[in-house]
Amino acid sequence: MTDDVATRATAGFRSAYGAEPAGRWAAPGRANLIGEHTDYNDGFVLPFALSLRTVAAAATQPGETWTVWSELTGETVSFGAAEVAAPGRVTGWAAYVAGVVWALREAGHAVSGARLAIASDVPLGSGLSSSAALESAVLAALVDLGGLDLPAERRPRLAQRAENAYVGAPTGIMDQSAAIRCRAGHALFLDCRDESVEHIPFDLDAAGLAMLVVDSRAPHRHADGEYAARRKSCEHGAEQLGVPALRDVDVAGLDDALARLDDDETRRRVRHVVTEDQRVLDTVALLRAGRIREIGPLLTASHASMRDDFEITVPEIDTAVEAALAAGALGARMTGGGFGGCVLALVDAAAAETVAAAVTAAYAERGFTAPGHVTVLPGPGATRLD
Ligand code: GLA
Repeated sequence: MTDDVATRATAGFRSAYGAEPAGRWAAPGRANLIGEHTDYNDGFVLPFALSLRTVAAAATQPGETWTVWSELTGETVSFGAAEVAAPGRVTGWAAYVAGVVWALREAGHAVSGARLAIASDVPLGSGLSSSAALESAVLAALVDLGGLDLPAERRPRLAQRAENAYVGAPTGIMDQSAAIRCRAGHALFLDCRDESVEHIPFDLDAAGLAMLVVDSRAPHRHADGEYAARRKSCEHGAEQLGVPALRDVDVAGLDDALARLDDDETRRRVRHVVTEDQRVLDTVALLRAGRIREIGPLLTASHASMRDDFEITVPEIDTAVEAALAAGALGARMTGGGFGGCVLALVDAAAAETVAAAVTAAYAERGFTAPGHVTVLPGPGATRLD
């Protein structure tokens, strides 16, 4: 489709319901600059929003009924009070919508019935958080339609609850925070313990740089089970060390902490999280000082840590990182939960196409499905369009 995503949402609303929407709400996908698998360890992350967005066109309807059309399937799904009374009663893509209604009601909000039409430019299964974009756009729509009192800083927790408890994915707070709280031109420095944020200027253009996003096109292999297993290992490590979360171990105390752990796998997992938190802090310090080019080595070190210690990369992803670096990228790393998804490469703006071509060539040499690529700039978080 060539129409812009908001136009498609409106057109979908008209054809599904034969009426005009009362408004349209957008929320972006995200890339994480650095800080992977640190969010559920109460640590630090530094995501930025993409200009790729999910749009919900919506209007209220009487009673406790919610109806959702999605351009993805062309299908309309309806659910009522019984389905949002308990998790798991709506499944598939509509579960993200039902989960938001459920979480709002659980938090004591009177959610009015609504009709929604969803269109999206955020690719599914690429590790760019299409699910958080969907939850965040729907949440913004339902809050405004119902005149609910829910300030932006309290929304990520609620959207996360929809995903954790209703959909059943044990993710952290990063993706929903990015979709809701990011600002254009900035990365979001989020302390996942107290949810305080600082908007860190991230002006790639001014530095003559570009951020290349390579879609690895690697099939997600066992991503859900592996994610839950990593989370368990981290909790196990924190428990053995007698701390509330791995955030409470700092780099200075790392060797001591590792010596107190009883197996090598837990040691590697803990080392990733503790060093990754430090890399986020170091990246933030460089960006605050306007030394954006110098973050490259931190990105690459983060990748090595995910590959060797956290063991969440796959051959396609490692190939993309290696090829990008060999072709002159200042730094490169996988972004997101792992086992596929996308690679970020920080490059001189003039070199973006050369680096992308080098990754494509390396893929061809190994017989992998050709990767996708696009350059991105940090965009705004969730917003009402009209
Ligand atoms: C997924 C989860 C996030 C976060 C990342 C890894 O995107 O949804 O909460 O844990 O993986 O950093």
